[in-house]
Amino acid sequence: MTKILKATTENILLAAEILRAGGLVAFPTETVYGLGANALDEEAVKKIFAAKERPAADPLIVHLAGLEHIEQAAKSAPPLARRLAERFWPGPLTLILPKQPQIPRLVTSGLDTVAVRAPAHPVALSLLRAAGTPIAAPSANRFGHTSPTAARHVWDDLKDRIEIILDGGATPLGVESTVLDISAVPPRILRPGGVTREMLEDEIGKVAVIESSRQVEAGLPSPGLLEKHYAPRAQMIFFKGEEARRAMLARAREALAAGQTVGVLAMDEDAEIFEETGAVVYRLGGGLDSVASRIYDGMRRLDADSVALILCRDAGESGLGLAIRDRLTRAASAVVET
Ligand code: TXA
Ligand code: MG
Repeated sequence: MTKILKATTENILLAAEILRAGGLVAFPTETVYGLGANALDEEAVKKIFAAKERPAADPLIVHLAGLEHIEQAAKSAPPLARRLAERFWPGPLTLILPKQPQIPRLVTSGLDTVAVRAPAHPVALSLLRAAGTPIAAPSANRFGHTSPTAARHVWDDLKDRIEIILDGGATPLGVESTVLDISAVPPRILRPGGVTREMLEDEIGKVAVIESSRQVEAGLPSPGLLEKHYAPRAQMIFFKGEEARRAMLARAREALAAGQTVGVLAMDEDAEIFEETGAVVYRLGGGLDSVASRIYDGMRRLDADSVALILCRDAGESGLGLAIRDRLTRAASAVVET
């Protein structure tokens, strides 16, 4: 039976003991909740893949208490890695480095590289220090589903599959860490996240970004054709381009007229106009910080309201906009370019 426990000092110590004994613990980070196991214990790491129903080909991030522990996971850390870690750790930046042999191959899905980061959340840091071991942790959701930004989200996905969930409240950032490959020239963002491209470029100059690899469709959605990630259960359509709001409004009216229940993930500037249509509106707030921190909760709430269709639109590509665009692109059943 899974327990949700307040993240008190006592419960963090209990969680650390469970980790040392080979068990699973969900815990808050500044980005999303993680599902942790002792990264040096292959049997424990196997349980992560089983609980999430995650394919073994998808490697995990190893969490460390700080740069001083980097040799526990990485065989070497070039000066560029140290420089980035000094500037952005603890924080939402994951670095891809050569793997240290003591990390089981299961953690890295057989790759010679390992993903490492030091999380900035006080509960995550206390847990890492108390456990005294690196913690392998993917986001604490079922594979393919929306990432968890509250203890309740973890419960909904993983209850009865893990020992405990440390409840540290809502995660402040709300989107995952930036995954950066520094072996490429220029360094490449493999997944945009909390440390923005602009922040990285301010420190190290030019950085490349891998395009979110989803097919873009102009017409009606073809659900099932594309592999979804971060996805709600309802069908979701993501609108991009200059006419995004207008196209989204037309689509909402059309679906409502056809008798469908429609949910809208709306930035404050759009909220009223969609409320007038009769759609179920989840307000994401005004700025990008607010949108990032609420987007996953919004998908889960609209699913809980049993809407058939979720509509949302692009928030641009500056700052956190790029991470938001990436997640919505992957979560959507279809992307509409306007
Ligand atoms: O914010 C986060 O990063 C959260 C919290 C819990 O720390 N974790 C997270 O883990 O998002 P997960 O497993 O959902 O995503 C890990 C990402 C995946 O996109 C995976 O492909 C990539 O990191 N990754 C892991 N190891 C890698 C490697 N050796 N090379 C390239 N990409 C790697
Ligand atoms: Mg994930």
